Amino acid sequence: MLKNKRILLIISGGIAAYKSLELIRRLKEHGVEVAPILTRGGAEFVTPLSVASLAGHKVYQELFDLDEEAEMGHIELSRSADLIVVAPATAHLIAKMAQGFADDLASTTLLATDTAVLVAPAMNVRMWENPSTQRNVSVLEQDGVDFVGPNEGTMACGEFGPGRLAEPIEIIDAIARKLSENLSAPLAGKRVLVTAGPTHEPIDPVRYIANRSSGKQGFAIAREAAKLGAETILIAGPTALATPVGVRRIDVETAEEMLHQCQAAGSCDVAIFAAAVADWRVNSPAKQKFKKTKSAIPELSFVENPDILATISQNSKGRPKLVIGFAAETEHVDKNAEEKRIRKGCDWIIANDVSPETGIMGGDFNQIRLITQNGTEIWPKLSKKLVAKRLVERIITEFGDQADAAE
Ligand code: C5P
Repeated sequence: MLKNKRILLIISGGIAAYKSLELIRRLKEHGVEVAPILTRGGAEFVTPLSVASLAGHKVYQELFDLDEEAEMGHIELSRSADLIVVAPATAHLIAKMAQGFADDLASTTLLATDTAVLVAPAMNVRMWENPSTQRNVSVLEQDGVDFVGPNEGTMACGEFGPGRLAEPIEIIDAIARKLSENLSAPLAGKRVLVTAGPTHEPIDPVRYIANRSSGKQGFAIAREAAKLGAETILIAGPTALATPVGVRRIDVETAEEMLHQCQAAGSCDVAIFAAAVADWRVNSPAKQKFKKTKSAIPELSFVENPDILATISQNSKGRPKLVIGFAAETEHVDKNAEEKRIRKGCDWIIANDVSPETGIMGGDFNQIRLITQNGTEIWPKLSKKLVAKRLVERIITEFGDQADAAE
């Protein structure tokens, strides 16, 4: 868990700063790369030389240091870290963090980052218990900052109570926990759009044309994406399925409404079009219910619906990085699906045979072929949940590969 991880360690000014040296030593033993920032107060208690020697890394100290800014600015410092650890964190630094002050390198880096932050406070018991410190801590907790300690015990000032820096081993445990949480949210910061279910195309106010899609596969994909940290928007045709936890669901009825909501959703990293959208809609649905009379059997005429997948795939402005379509086929699955991938302009197609004997339409299982620009992967028969899990893992790998290629 800890090996090869990069931690930005901010050491602020308190007598407990000496323990940060032990923390660095132990982190190094675990194979962690430690980039230290030492505040002015911190440097009153430990020397930059001790910190640098133990970390085997340059120590960053000043916000306005031309050499440091040229080499690695505060934004880059935090961006290259897997986690920022503030140990020890003084009451003053905690107050600055809670208020968003940026008057030195440490506070500016903390304000400029979206990397996870773990804080190990250390201070006199009355400073810790002071309502303003407690207020600041709860503000930071609401902002998603995690705390380890302080512990209770005898302090350097001779008083007893909570305020001691957590032991290095406890800080390392908290670091490992925090890193594993981050690991399980590999889609954090990504926006994923999913369409699911059938569409209903009205004939008159009470009748409609629909299809057998249950929405189960699309809902399962949305659930997985949200579970792994993506901001997930699910545009759902009519289904009785419950909204997965953490998913923003927008209900629609018709293909036209579905397209409108997809466009209104704004820019996304991934768009997955699992909905079984009706290809045609009734031209001018009747305003009143058709009456059953022997002499006048209604005749319906149709117009083509917009192709949502093709529209989004071929949108030159703000196209998602990865567009995935589905191809429900009853014959020549591979050939039809690959043609569809090219014709619609999407990146991947998930093809499946929905002949009635497969039981896929409406059922809980799916057997898919993933068709990408690199060829076809044949997946085994899996539950729709497992297909979703595997697909989302595949998307994560794809983003990882893209990031590697960009480096
Ligand atoms: O052309 P066909 O309906 O077989 O294509 C299926 C794929 O296209 C699915 O991903 C489906 O969600 C999408 N589609 C769409 N809008 C349509 C028809 C299909 O987005 N009008």
